[in-house]
Amino acid sequence: MSRSAHPAGPRHGDVLPEGHYSAPPADLNALDPKVWSCTVARDAEGVATVGGIDVKSLAAEFGTPAYVLDEDDFRARARAWRDAFGTEADVFYAGKAFLSKAIVRWLHEEGLNLDVCSSGELTVALAAGMPPQRIALHGNNKTADELEHAVKTGVGRIVVDSYEEIERLAAITARQGVRQQVLIRITVGVEAHTHEFIATAHEDQKFGLSLGNGSAAEAVRRVLGHEGLELRGIHSHIGSQIFDTAGFEVAARRVVGLLAEIRDEHGVELPEIDLGGGLGIAYTSEDDPREPAEIAAALADIVRRECAAANLDTPRLSVEPGRAIVGPTAFTLYEVGTVKPLEGLRTYVSVDGGMSDNIRTALYDAEYSVALVSRRSDAEPMLVRVVGKHCESGDIVVRDAFLPADLAPGDLIAVPATGAYCRSMASNYNHALKPPVLAVKDGAARVIVRRETEEDLLRLDIG
Ligand code: LLP
Repeated sequence: MSRSAHPAGPRHGDVLPEGHYSAPPADLNALDPKVWSCTVARDAEGVATVGGIDVKSLAAEFGTPAYVLDEDDFRARARAWRDAFGTEADVFYAGKAFLSKAIVRWLHEEGLNLDVCSSGELTVALAAGMPPQRIALHGNNKTADELEHAVKTGVGRIVVDSYEEIERLAAITARQGVRQQVLIRITVGVEAHTHEFIATAHEDQKFGLSLGNGSAAEAVRRVLGHEGLELRGIHSHIGSQIFDTAGFEVAARRVVGLLAEIRDEHGVELPEIDLGGGLGIAYTSEDDPREPAEIAAALADIVRRECAAANLDTPRLSVEPGRAIVGPTAFTLYEVGTVKPLEGLRTYVSVDGGMSDNIRTALYDAEYSVALVSRRSDAEPMLVRVVGKHCESGDIVVRDAFLPADLAPGDLIAVPATGAYCRSMASNYNHALKPPVLAVKDGAARVIVRRETEEDLLRLDIG
C-alpha cells in the first residue's frame, strides 16, 4: 500500500477554499476526549483502541463500516444523568436516538426510564424486559393500534398530542376498562437555537398543542372530561442539539404558568412536568456542551422558583435526553476506498458507507470530525471531504476536515459522536446493507445489532 503524500490538494499554510473549518489541528493524531468516548486511546503502535480493543482487530473480525459503541461510556453517561437529577426527578432515555435490546437492558440496570415513539420501539423495549410502567409513549400521530398496544401492555404514560388522540385513547381505555396516565404535550412558543428541522416548540409546526392559541388549555379540559384518562402533567420538548439552557428556562416558566391556570380553572394541581430532551453534544472540538449536573441544577431551580411564585407545590420533573447519552458513546469505523485530490480545492476521501449510515450531514448540514485510526501519521494535514459510496453528490459524511496527506486506500478512519440518530436513521439507499452495532467493553467486542445481509434484502422483496 502506498504511503506517499498526494501530489495535489491544499495543505497546511495554503489559502483554503470556503468551508466550515478553522485551521488544521496542531496534532492530527490526537483523539480529543470531547468528541471520542471515554475509553478511546492509541496503543503503542499508534492504532486507536476502544474498550481495550484495537480498531484493526475490530475491522478484521466484524468488517466495515461498523458502529462501535463503548458500553462503559454509555453506562457512565446514563448514570451521570440519573445521578444529576437524583431521586426528585426521572430520566427517560429517548429511544429514537438509538434503541436495541442491549441498550434497554443497560438502561434498566442503570435505573433510567425509557421514552418510545412507535409500536416498534415499544416492542423492542418490552422484549428486552423494560418494565412497562417505566415507559412513556410519544408521537404526533400514534395509530389506534399503537395506542391499543401501549394501553394493553400497561405503558406508564402516554403523552397525548392532539384532540383526536384524546378521543381515540379515551375510547380504548373505556373498551379495556382501564385508566391510563397521560401527559399533554404543549408547544410553548420558544425559538430554540438549532436547525429548523429539529426545533419543535415554535408555533408553526406539527407537534403538540399550542399554549398561545388556547389549544393546550382546551386539551386539558377534554382530558379531564374522560374517566379513563388520568392527567398527570404537562410535557414540552423545545428541540434538539441545544447548548443554551435559556430556552428550557422559558419553557419551564410557561409550563408552570399553565399548571397555575389549570389549578385556577379546575381546582387540580398536576403532579408532573416533563421538559423533554434536546441537550447538545460535541461533534467537533469547537462544541462546548453543558454537564448534566449543571443542566439538572438549572432546570430544578427554575421550576422550584416559578412554582413558589405561583403558589404551587413543586411537581415531579422529568427529562428525556437521547443524543446526550448515546451520541458520544459510538463512532463509525470506515475503510478508505479511494483518495481523489482536486487541485486547489480539496481531497475527496471515499469510504465504504455514507449517507445510508449517516444521513445527518446531508439532512441538517451537521458537522463531524474524523481521524485516521489504523495508524499514526506525521504527514502534513490535507483538507478533505469524506464522502460515501452512494449515487448522489450530497452523499457527504464529513464536509470539511483535515486528515494526514499520506492517507491511502485500506486505511481505517473513524467518525466520532455517531451514536445518536445514525443507526436509527440508517437506510437501504442503493440497497446498502445497514452496518452492525458492536458493543465493546473490557477487551471484548460483541455484535448487539448484526450487519444486514443480501439475504435480508431478498427476504423482504417477495417478488
Ligand atoms: N423527547 C422528545 C419528545 C423528542 O421528540 C426528542 C427528539 C427527544 C426527547 C430526544 O431529543 P435529544 O435529546 O436526542 O436531542 N434526527 C434529529 C433529531 C430529532 C429529534 C427528535 N426528537 C438529529 O439527528 O439531530
